[in-house]
Amino acid sequence: MRIYREKNYDAMSERAAQIIGALVLQKPDCVLGLATGSTPIGTYQRLIGAYEKRILDFSNVKTVNLDEYRGLDGTNKESYRFFMNHNLFDHINIDKANTHVPDGLAADGAAAGRAYDEMMVDLGGTDLQLLGLGQNGHIGFNEPGQFIAGTHVVKLTESTIKANSRLFDDISQVPREAITMGMRGIMTSREILLVANGPKKTKALEAALYGPITPDVPASILQLHPNLIVVCDEEALPQMQ
Ligand code: GLP
Repeated sequence: MRIYREKNYDAMSERAAQIIGALVLQKPDCVLGLATGSTPIGTYQRLIGAYEKRILDFSNVKTVNLDEYRGLDGTNKESYRFFMNHNLFDHINIDKANTHVPDGLAADGAAAGRAYDEMMVDLGGTDLQLLGLGQNGHIGFNEPGQFIAGTHVVKLTESTIKANSRLFDDISQVPREAITMGMRGIMTSREILLVANGPKKTKALEAALYGPITPDVPASILQLHPNLIVVCDEEALPQMQ
């Protein structure tokens, strides 16, 4: 595990963007696993900046996203497809046909999960998976309780519904279910980049990096990954152990 503990959010975002940008430069047809949430927004802004300066070219890049709310279609502004278009894809030269987000509208969630996993295998696997961190230690929408291998439908915990309600008009509008890449999809990525900032993430980050490997803290499984890079700020990790 390699940890970059940066001064603040901007420095964290800069570092994360450099790591992703370096991969895009070295492997222009790479497969990027992407994440939603507030944490990676600064990273995406810097990738957009590098594209605008003609440093980065995304025309051959492919992406797979971690998760999507169930019941929201891609035009809904709270959906993760909308988030990705709005915060990254609409501003770079990526072919949208090469961008993948789990289907939140699929009637048969299990079949949609299997299809997503097959699609990832067909792409040759992910070169780098970007991950945010839930306050309860979740990654993607893999909630505490069990490690599930494949892409699957999940019932969101009350704490996640509450944490994510800030982005909705009202907590009642937060979907109760999501479809998320499972631990196989995440852990088979050749490299993993975990980003976390702010004091709300300290407990989860310390448990993930230094605690026992347990499904009660889904991100703790990352300790087993041979190529884990953590980029955080000082508030999220007051002390390195
Ligand atoms: C959501 C997403 C996660 C994300 C987490 C943290 O629940 N499903 O992938 O990592 O939120 O979000 P934030 O970065 O806004 O704290």
